[in-house]
Amino acid sequence: MSLTLKELFNKIFKILNSKKIENPGLEANMIISHVLKINNEKIFMQNNKKVYKKNLSKIYKIVRQRIQDKPMAYLVGNTYFYSNKFYVNNNVLIPRPESELIVELGCKSIKNTKDPEILDLCCGSGCIGISIYKNLRWKPQIVFSDISAKALKVCKKNLNKFRIKKNSIVIESDLFKKIDRKFNLIVCNPPYIKNADFLNLDNTIRSYEPRSALVSSDNGTNHLKRVIKSSKKRLYDNGVLVVEIGYNQSKEITNFFKKQGFSDIVVSKDLSGIKRAISAKWKK
Ligand SMILES: C[S@@+](CC[C@H](N)C(=O)[O-])C[C@H]1O[C@@H](n2cnc3c(N)ncnc32)[C@H](O)[C@@H]1O
Repeated sequence: MSLTLKELFNKIFKILNSKKIENPGLEANMIISHVLKINNEKIFMQNNKKVYKKNLSKIYKIVRQRIQDKPMAYLVGNTYFYSNKFYVNNNVLIPRPESELIVELGCKSIKNTKDPEILDLCCGSGCIGISIYKNLRWKPQIVFSDISAKALKVCKKNLNKFRIKKNSIVIESDLFKKIDRKFNLIVCNPPYIKNADFLNLDNTIRSYEPRSALVSSDNGTNHLKRVIKSSKKRLYDNGVLVVEIGYNQSKEITNFFKKQGFSDIVVSKDLSGIKRAISAKWKK
């Protein structure tokens, strides 16, 4: 049995469309190009190329998983963040566009620091720290840390991919427990969703992404507050902490930063206008 690329594309498009997948054309394209290992554009340039049974079965298997809500990034094993393609699997959160704000704020805060020392805490795939590294003129030393050994395996794969293994250290740690040095910049996108909100998330997220990457106790603020409190000992004078926060946490977390003695506290909005990140300076 075989189908031409055009027939195959149309068939998958129809299936995905009937299941109300948001971008059926784009996703059909991604699935085919992933399995056949060809460029997206080539699918349309090779309309009559035949696809045979073995590859058809692989493609249909992915389509079946996709219509059961498995995220595309896990199915094809990668996703784009800050214009770069990161390796991902279901042991890490899929990097979100709103987290690109942390990269912007982090880079801005150390653009004039020579040889900065940086910590990407709760690093997951490593997307934030790696994007900062790639955007700095002076290549920094970056520590990547996460509580999950499986997530750190993914992070290490990305460090290899982007050739920054030499400039990085990977530490498995519950927040700062195994981190005993200071930094000029700490970036952190911790779990910050409260359990009740988690239960209302889309099935694509709830059933497939690691719960431990998303949910935090105390109305979602437990990790954030622990990070802010412990950062004081782990920042050099004038060092900066940048954290991502939930849609309704700006007031509570800003107050907590103040209470802990941070200065220059700035709340930034993401592209949807949601208060999504807070940066603050630590002065002794
Ligand atoms: C929201 S994800 C962020 C991942 C990545 N930085 C990103 O932005 O895509 C949170 C990460 O925190 C990690 N994590 C959860 N609890 C932790 C803890 N107590 N200490 C360190 N990391 C933790 C999870 O394993 C997960 O990788």
